[in-house]
Amino acid sequence: VRVTVLEVIQRSTEFLTKKGVDSPRLQVELLLAKVLGMKRMQLYLNFDRPLTVPEADLLRELVKRRGLREPLQHILGSTSFCGYEIAVNRHVLIPRPETELLAERGWQFLAKAESPRALDFGTGSGCLAIALAAKCPSARVWALDISPEALAAARANAERNQVAERVSFMHGDGFGAIREALTFDLIVSNPPYIPTDEIATLQPEVREHDPRLALDGGGDGLDFYRRLAAEAGRFLNSGGRLMVEFGDGQGAALRGLFEGAAWAVEDVLPDYSQRERILIASRRN
Ligand SMILES: C[S@@+](CC[C@H](N)C(=O)[O-])C[C@H]1O[C@@H](n2cnc3c(N)ncnc32)[C@H](O)[C@@H]1O
Repeated sequence: VRVTVLEVIQRSTEFLTKKGVDSPRLQVELLLAKVLGMKRMQLYLNFDRPLTVPEADLLRELVKRRGLREPLQHILGSTSFCGYEIAVNRHVLIPRPETELLAERGWQFLAKAESPRALDFGTGSGCLAIALAAKCPSARVWALDISPEALAAARANAERNQVAERVSFMHGDGFGAIREALTFDLIVSNPPYIPTDEIATLQPEVREHDPRLALDGGGDGLDFYRRLAAEAGRFLNSGGRLMVEFGDGQGAALRGLFEGAAWAVEDVLPDYSQRERILIASRRN
Protein backbone atom coordinates (compact mmCIF):
# COMPACT_ATOMS: atom_id res chain seq x y z
CA VAL A 1 0.00 0.00 0.00
CA ARG A 2 1.17 3.46 -0.87
CA VAL A 3 1.46 6.18 1.72
CA THR A 4 -0.83 9.22 1.39
CA VAL A 5 0.00 12.91 1.62
CA LEU A 6 -1.49 13.17 5.10
CA GLU A 7 0.29 10.05 6.38
CA VAL A 8 3.64 11.14 5.08
CA ILE A 9 3.19 14.60 6.60
CA GLN A 10 2.44 13.04 9.98
CA ARG A 11 5.33 10.58 9.94
CA SER A 12 7.89 13.05 8.69
CA THR A 13 6.74 15.66 11.23
CA GLU A 14 7.33 13.14 13.99
CA PHE A 15 10.78 12.41 12.60
CA LEU A 16 11.81 16.09 12.44
CA THR A 17 10.39 16.71 15.92
CA LYS A 18 12.76 14.04 17.25
CA LYS A 19 15.62 15.71 15.46
CA GLY A 20 14.92 19.01 17.26
CA VAL A 21 13.90 20.94 14.15
CA ASP A 22 11.76 24.07 14.71
CA SER A 23 8.23 24.15 13.23
CA PRO A 24 8.60 20.58 11.93
CA ARG A 25 5.21 20.29 10.26
CA LEU A 26 5.65 23.47 8.25
CA GLN A 27 9.09 22.25 7.14
CA VAL A 28 7.66 18.92 5.98
CA GLU A 29 4.83 20.61 4.13
CA LEU A 30 7.23 22.89 2.28
CA LEU A 31 9.47 19.96 1.32
CA LEU A 32 6.50 17.88 0.18
CA ALA A 33 5.07 20.78 -1.80
CA LYS A 34 8.44 21.01 -3.57
CA VAL A 35 8.46 17.28 -4.32
CA LEU A 36 4.90 17.31 -5.65
CA GLY A 37 5.34 20.62 -7.49
CA MET A 38 2.36 22.23 -5.79
CA LYS A 39 1.73 25.15 -3.49
CA ARG A 40 1.75 24.25 0.19
CA MET A 41 -1.96 25.04 0.58
CA GLN A 42 -2.82 22.59 -2.20
CA LEU A 43 -1.57 19.77 0.00
CA TYR A 44 -4.64 20.30 2.14
CA LEU A 45 -6.91 19.49 -0.81
CA ASN A 46 -4.86 16.36 -1.54
CA PHE A 47 -4.55 14.64 1.83
CA ASP A 48 -5.75 11.29 0.42
CA ARG A 49 -3.54 11.38 -2.66
CA PRO A 50 -1.09 8.48 -2.62
CA LEU A 51 2.58 9.27 -3.29
CA THR A 52 4.30 7.44 -6.14
CA VAL A 53 7.40 5.48 -5.20
CA PRO A 54 9.80 8.09 -6.68
CA GLU A 55 7.95 10.89 -4.87
CA ALA A 56 8.13 9.04 -1.56
CA ASP A 57 11.83 8.27 -2.09
CA LEU A 58 12.69 11.86 -2.91
CA LEU A 59 10.75 13.22 0.05
CA ARG A 60 12.45 10.75 2.38
CA GLU A 61 15.84 11.96 1.18
CA LEU A 62 14.96 15.66 1.66
CA VAL A 63 13.43 15.08 5.10
CA LYS A 64 16.54 13.15 6.09
CA ARG A 65 18.73 16.10 5.07
CA ARG A 66 16.54 18.48 7.07
CA GLY A 67 16.81 16.07 10.03
CA LEU A 68 20.58 16.45 9.79
CA ARG A 69 19.87 20.16 10.28
CA GLU A 70 20.65 21.33 6.78
CA PRO A 71 18.67 24.58 6.36
CA LEU A 72 15.37 24.31 4.50
CA GLN A 73 16.46 27.12 2.16
CA HIS A 74 19.55 25.16 1.09
CA ILE A 75 17.43 22.11 0.34
CA LEU A 76 14.87 24.16 -1.60
CA GLY A 77 17.70 26.17 -3.25
CA SER A 78 16.20 29.59 -2.70
CA THR A 79 14.24 31.88 -0.41
CA SER A 80 12.09 34.95 -0.76
CA PHE A 81 13.35 38.41 0.26
CA CYS A 82 10.92 41.34 -0.01
CA GLY A 83 9.07 39.22 -2.55
CA TYR A 84 12.15 38.60 -4.74
CA GLU A 85 13.44 35.09 -5.28
CA ILE A 86 17.00 34.80 -3.99
CA ALA A 87 18.99 31.64 -4.68
CA VAL A 88 21.22 30.59 -1.80
CA ASN A 89 24.12 28.22 -1.34
CA ARG A 90 26.76 27.55 1.30
CA HIS A 91 28.73 30.66 0.28
CA VAL A 92 26.03 33.15 1.27
CA LEU A 93 24.13 33.94 4.42
CA ILE A 94 20.49 32.94 4.09
CA PRO A 95 18.59 36.26 3.99
CA ARG A 96 16.60 36.81 7.19
CA PRO A 97 13.17 38.43 7.57
CA GLU A 98 14.57 41.17 9.86
CA THR A 99 16.78 42.36 7.04
CA GLU A 100 13.69 43.13 4.96
CA LEU A 101 13.07 46.02 7.38
CA LEU A 102 16.47 47.46 6.52
CA ALA A 103 15.72 47.12 2.80
CA GLU A 104 12.38 48.86 3.26
CA ARG A 105 13.91 51.80 5.14
CA GLY A 106 16.55 52.00 2.44
CA TRP A 107 14.21 52.20 -0.53
CA GLN A 108 11.91 54.63 1.27
CA PHE A 109 14.90 56.93 1.67
CA LEU A 110 16.13 56.44 -1.92
CA ALA A 111 12.67 57.14 -3.32
CA LYS A 112 13.04 60.78 -2.21
CA ALA A 113 16.11 61.41 -4.39
CA GLU A 114 16.45 61.99 -8.15
CA SER A 115 18.92 59.37 -9.39
CA PRO A 116 20.22 58.01 -6.14
CA ARG A 117 23.28 55.86 -5.61
CA ALA A 118 23.45 53.22 -2.95
CA LEU A 119 26.12 50.90 -1.58
CA ASP A 120 25.48 47.49 -0.01
CA PHE A 121 28.50 46.71 2.21
CA GLY A 122 28.83 42.90 2.58
CA THR A 123 26.21 41.92 0.03
CA GLY A 124 26.24 38.12 0.45
CA SER A 125 23.37 36.76 -1.66
CA GLY A 126 22.78 40.29 -2.97
CA CYS A 127 19.37 40.48 -1.30
CA LEU A 128 19.65 44.09 -0.08
CA ALA A 129 21.21 45.46 -3.26
CA ILE A 130 18.59 43.70 -5.39
CA ALA A 131 15.63 44.88 -3.32
CA LEU A 132 16.91 48.49 -3.43
CA ALA A 133 17.45 48.39 -7.20
CA ALA A 134 14.13 46.67 -7.87
CA LYS A 135 12.09 49.06 -5.73
CA CYS A 136 13.84 52.20 -7.01
CA PRO A 137 14.07 52.05 -10.80
CA SER A 138 16.08 55.30 -10.93
CA ALA A 139 18.70 54.04 -8.46
CA ARG A 140 22.15 52.68 -9.20
CA VAL A 141 23.49 50.25 -6.67
CA TRP A 142 27.01 49.04 -5.89
CA ALA A 143 27.53 45.92 -3.82
CA LEU A 144 30.79 44.75 -2.27
CA ASP A 145 31.93 41.58 -0.59
CA ILE A 146 35.18 39.90 0.35
CA SER A 147 33.91 36.53 -0.88
CA PRO A 148 34.16 35.94 -4.66
CA GLU A 149 31.74 33.01 -4.35
CA ALA A 150 29.17 35.23 -2.66
CA LEU A 151 29.59 37.84 -5.39
CA ALA A 152 28.97 35.18 -8.05
CA ALA A 153 25.75 34.19 -6.30
CA ALA A 154 24.72 37.83 -5.90
CA ARG A 155 25.34 38.56 -9.58
CA ALA A 156 23.21 35.59 -10.61
CA ASN A 157 20.47 36.77 -8.28
CA ALA A 158 20.59 40.27 -9.77
CA GLU A 159 20.16 38.74 -13.23
CA ARG A 160 17.35 36.49 -12.07
CA ASN A 161 15.54 39.57 -10.76
CA GLN A 162 16.24 41.73 -13.82
CA VAL A 163 18.27 44.41 -12.08
CA ALA A 164 21.77 43.39 -13.19
CA GLU A 165 22.25 46.42 -15.44
CA ARG A 166 21.87 48.76 -12.43
CA VAL A 167 23.88 46.78 -9.87
CA SER A 168 27.70 46.70 -9.93
CA PHE A 169 29.68 44.23 -7.87
CA MET A 170 33.03 44.95 -6.26
CA HIS A 171 35.40 42.48 -4.69
CA GLY A 172 37.63 43.26 -1.73
CA ASP A 173 38.08 43.85 1.98
CA GLY A 174 35.60 46.49 3.16
CA PHE A 175 35.87 49.90 1.54
CA GLY A 176 39.15 48.72 -0.01
CA ALA A 177 36.92 47.07 -2.63
CA ILE A 178 36.01 50.51 -4.01
CA ARG A 179 38.62 51.46 -6.59
CA GLU A 180 36.80 54.35 -8.32
CA ALA A 181 35.91 57.79 -7.01
CA LEU A 182 32.41 56.88 -5.84
CA THR A 183 30.13 58.42 -3.25
CA PHE A 184 26.66 57.33 -2.25
CA ASP A 185 23.39 58.73 -0.94
CA LEU A 186 22.78 55.59 1.04
CA ILE A 187 25.05 52.94 2.53
CA VAL A 188 23.30 49.86 3.88
CA SER A 189 25.01 47.02 5.66
CA ASN A 190 24.10 43.86 7.47
CA PRO A 191 27.67 43.02 8.45
CA PRO A 192 28.89 39.95 10.35
CA TYR A 193 27.96 40.72 13.98
CA ILE A 194 28.18 37.55 16.05
CA PRO A 195 30.91 37.65 18.73
CA THR A 196 33.44 34.97 17.74
CA ASP A 197 32.92 32.84 20.86
CA GLU A 198 29.14 32.77 20.41
CA ILE A 199 29.20 31.15 16.98
CA ALA A 200 29.59 27.69 18.54
CA THR A 201 26.39 28.20 20.57
CA LEU A 202 24.15 28.91 17.55
CA GLN A 203 21.71 26.44 15.98
CA PRO A 204 23.43 23.86 13.73
CA GLU A 205 21.62 25.29 10.69
CA VAL A 206 23.49 28.55 11.29
CA ARG A 207 26.85 27.50 12.73
CA GLU A 208 27.41 24.68 10.24
CA HIS A 209 25.76 26.09 7.11
CA ASP A 210 25.93 29.89 7.06
CA PRO A 211 29.47 30.93 6.00
CA ARG A 212 31.65 31.79 8.97
CA LEU A 213 32.79 34.86 7.08
CA ALA A 214 29.18 36.10 7.20
CA LEU A 215 28.84 35.57 10.96
CA ASP A 216 32.09 36.47 12.70
CA GLY A 217 32.04 40.04 13.97
CA GLY A 218 35.20 39.71 16.10
CA GLY A 219 35.61 39.42 19.88
CA ASP A 220 32.66 41.63 20.82
CA GLY A 221 30.85 41.34 17.48
CA LEU A 222 31.36 45.03 16.70
CA ASP A 223 34.45 44.99 14.46
CA PHE A 224 32.54 45.95 11.30
CA TYR A 225 30.65 48.80 12.97
CA ARG A 226 33.98 50.28 14.06
CA ARG A 227 35.16 50.11 10.46
CA LEU A 228 31.88 51.60 9.18
CA ALA A 229 31.91 54.38 11.77
CA ALA A 230 35.50 55.28 10.89
CA GLU A 231 35.37 54.88 7.10
CA ALA A 232 31.82 55.19 5.74
CA GLY A 233 31.64 58.96 6.20
CA ARG A 234 33.89 59.83 3.31
CA PHE A 235 31.82 57.71 0.90
CA LEU A 236 28.57 59.41 1.83
CA ASN A 237 27.12 62.41 -0.02
CA SER A 238 25.90 65.29 2.12
CA GLY A 239 22.37 64.52 3.28
CA GLY A 240 23.15 60.82 2.92
CA ARG A 241 22.35 58.04 5.35
CA LEU A 242 24.07 55.01 6.78
CA MET A 243 21.68 52.21 7.75
CA VAL A 244 22.96 49.10 9.51
CA GLU A 245 21.46 45.98 10.98
CA PHE A 246 22.92 44.76 14.28
CA GLY A 247 22.67 41.89 16.74
CA ASP A 248 20.72 41.34 19.96
CA GLY A 249 21.70 43.77 22.68
CA GLN A 250 24.21 45.72 20.58
CA GLY A 251 22.08 48.88 20.27
CA ALA A 252 23.50 50.87 23.17
CA ALA A 253 27.11 50.10 22.26
CA LEU A 254 26.47 51.05 18.64
CA ARG A 255 24.87 54.35 19.52
CA GLY A 256 27.95 55.24 21.57
CA LEU A 257 30.29 54.04 18.87
CA PHE A 258 28.69 56.07 16.07
CA GLU A 259 28.09 59.18 18.16
CA GLY A 260 31.73 59.08 19.26
CA ALA A 261 32.82 59.00 15.61
CA ALA A 262 31.11 62.13 14.23
CA TRP A 263 27.78 60.54 13.33
CA ALA A 264 24.30 61.68 14.38
CA VAL A 265 22.16 58.68 15.24
CA GLU A 266 18.71 59.48 13.87
CA ASP A 267 16.83 56.35 14.72
CA VAL A 268 17.16 52.88 16.21
CA LEU A 269 14.33 50.66 15.01
CA PRO A 270 12.93 47.41 16.40
CA ASP A 271 12.35 44.20 14.44
CA TYR A 272 9.25 41.98 14.41
CA SER A 273 10.10 40.67 17.90
CA GLN A 274 10.47 44.21 19.25
CA ARG A 275 14.23 43.90 19.57
CA GLU A 276 16.38 46.85 18.51
CA ARG A 277 17.73 45.84 15.10
CA ILE A 278 18.44 48.75 12.78
CA LEU A 279 20.42 51.94 13.29
CA ILE A 280 20.12 54.95 10.99
CA ALA A 281 22.81 57.61 11.09
CA SER A 282 23.95 60.65 9.17
CA ARG A 283 27.26 62.47 9.23
CA ARG A 284 27.51 65.37 11.69
CA ASN A 285 28.31 68.19 9.19
C1 LIG B 1 25.82 38.86 7.60
S1 LIG B 1 26.29 38.65 5.88
C2 LIG B 1 25.06 39.66 5.10
C3 LIG B 1 24.69 39.24 3.71
C4 LIG B 1 23.51 40.02 3.11
N1 LIG B 1 23.81 41.44 3.00
C5 LIG B 1 22.27 39.83 3.93
O1 LIG B 1 21.85 40.79 4.60
O2 LIG B 1 21.68 38.74 3.94
C6 LIG B 1 27.79 39.61 5.82
C7 LIG B 1 28.56 39.60 4.50
O3 LIG B 1 29.75 40.38 4.68
C8 LIG B 1 30.80 39.78 3.96
N2 LIG B 1 32.10 40.18 4.54
C9 LIG B 1 32.73 39.66 5.61
N3 LIG B 1 33.89 40.30 5.83
C10 LIG B 1 33.98 41.25 4.87
C11 LIG B 1 34.98 42.24 4.57
N4 LIG B 1 36.09 42.36 5.30
N5 LIG B 1 34.76 43.04 3.51
C12 LIG B 1 33.65 42.93 2.76
N6 LIG B 1 32.68 42.02 3.01
C13 LIG B 1 32.85 41.19 4.05
C14 LIG B 1 30.54 38.30 4.08
O4 LIG B 1 31.18 37.59 3.05
C15 LIG B 1 29.01 38.25 4.01
O5 LIG B 1 28.59 38.04 2.70
